[in-house]
Amino acid sequence: MSTKTISEGTSVIQDNLDYTLFSWSKQKGIAPIAVKYAEGVYLYDYDGKRYIDFSSGLMNVNIGHGNQRITNAVVKQMQEVTYVTPSCVTKARGDLGKKLAEICPGDLNKAFFTLCGASSIENGIKLARLYTGRHKILSRYQSYHGASYGAMSASGDPRRLPMDAQQSPNFVHFDLPYLYRWEYGEENLLKEAVASLERIIAYEGPSNIAAILLEGESGTSCCLQYPVGYLKAVSEICNKHGILLIMDEVMSGFGRTGKWFGFENHGIIPDMICMAKGLTAGYLPLGCLMVSDKIAAKFDDTVLALGLTYSAHPVSCAAALETIKVYEDDGLIENAVLMSKYINEQVALLKQKHPSIGDFRNTGLLGCIELVKNRKTKEPMAPFNARPDEMTVMNKVAAKIKELGMYTFVRWNCVFIAPPLIVTKEQVDEGLAIISEAISIADENYFEF
Ligand SMILES: Cc1ncc(COP(=O)(O)O)c(C=O)c1O
Repeated sequence: MSTKTISEGTSVIQDNLDYTLFSWSKQKGIAPIAVKYAEGVYLYDYDGKRYIDFSSGLMNVNIGHGNQRITNAVVKQMQEVTYVTPSCVTKARGDLGKKLAEICPGDLNKAFFTLCGASSIENGIKLARLYTGRHKILSRYQSYHGASYGAMSASGDPRRLPMDAQQSPNFVHFDLPYLYRWEYGEENLLKEAVASLERIIAYEGPSNIAAILLEGESGTSCCLQYPVGYLKAVSEICNKHGILLIMDEVMSGFGRTGKWFGFENHGIIPDMICMAKGLTAGYLPLGCLMVSDKIAAKFDDTVLALGLTYSAHPVSCAAALETIKVYEDDGLIENAVLMSKYINEQVALLKQKHPSIGDFRNTGLLGCIELVKNRKTKEPMAPFNARPDEMTVMNKVAAKIKELGMYTFVRWNCVFIAPPLIVTKEQVDEGLAIISEAISIADENYFEF
């Protein structure tokens, strides 16, 4: 009889593999990190191995892991009251609504609390349709807005393609090229991007369009920054046609881009903001749809046909309130700005060392390195929506990153640099040293003419 014992970590992994399903992956061949505990910018597995978290989980753990202030606020709320129906109110809900109205610009003063990013998007889409009486939603091809049917149909991301046949109706996508892969000059990029959006609006009929939905700053599509002036032009086009502008700040919100919200880097104020992730920094699930006074006023005498059992969950609201206080008390958004500048300088040095770094796009602490096989042709190390057999080199890069003690998001030919906002210079150095070593593998697959 075998007396072989398996370690606790191995048994944790095995139970997860045997009894749970994993997102966006084929289920065979998965090798997850079994996280025993996490603190600051680090995750620790059952063997005591430390991983620096360079994507803040899924770009949500903005305040870092294990902050006891949030635990304490959650415990206190749970001791008082854990659940009330959304028709009752709590101090946490009112305080959070008030705080969000304070940090949101303009007249974005009313919060409808949801559960996550996708449910904020779903409710934003519904409300835009109810408010305008129009049906179409326009969004960017290279975008992600969530995995529920409406949010997924709004997303242009290829994750929607497997269920394309059942997509929700009345979503229209438009293309928005990005500077690195645009050959005709920066000024022409803005001109062409705006002109093409105007053409699509004309073809679709402006009076049929309820809203344009855009990420505050592009995230999982590999941080494809807006041409300078683009969001301002979109905002003006929306005003001209009575189309609502919904900014998806699920990933770019709460200091991630060096401002409370990504759109604040572009001098605009939208009609609605969808939030989640950084709202609670991942400590508990919560989302929020923030709407302008003008939109809210319409429902003073009309039924607001939205609802969720867990809307404004008191414990999640308490977590969010304390999280926002942490951003403020610890000067985390200011630190994001400082660390962003430092990362930009350091990655510029890495670019001199590693020929495979084609581009680095970064706003605040939402950045990624795009790896190429040749800088002139810009052939990507793995193509857009790469098949598994096209990911050989990038899989090796990702495996090296993990082996060297880092957790980060690697997608197609992009390696993300999006650490928690508490990150220090020393931790940036530690993380970039790991990335530098790992992308030496990509350098070996670089070719000169
Ligand atoms: C910009 C954006 N919107 C919406 C979502 C969906 O959020 P959730 O996964 O919480 O539903 C995401 C998730 O990554 C996102 O990045």
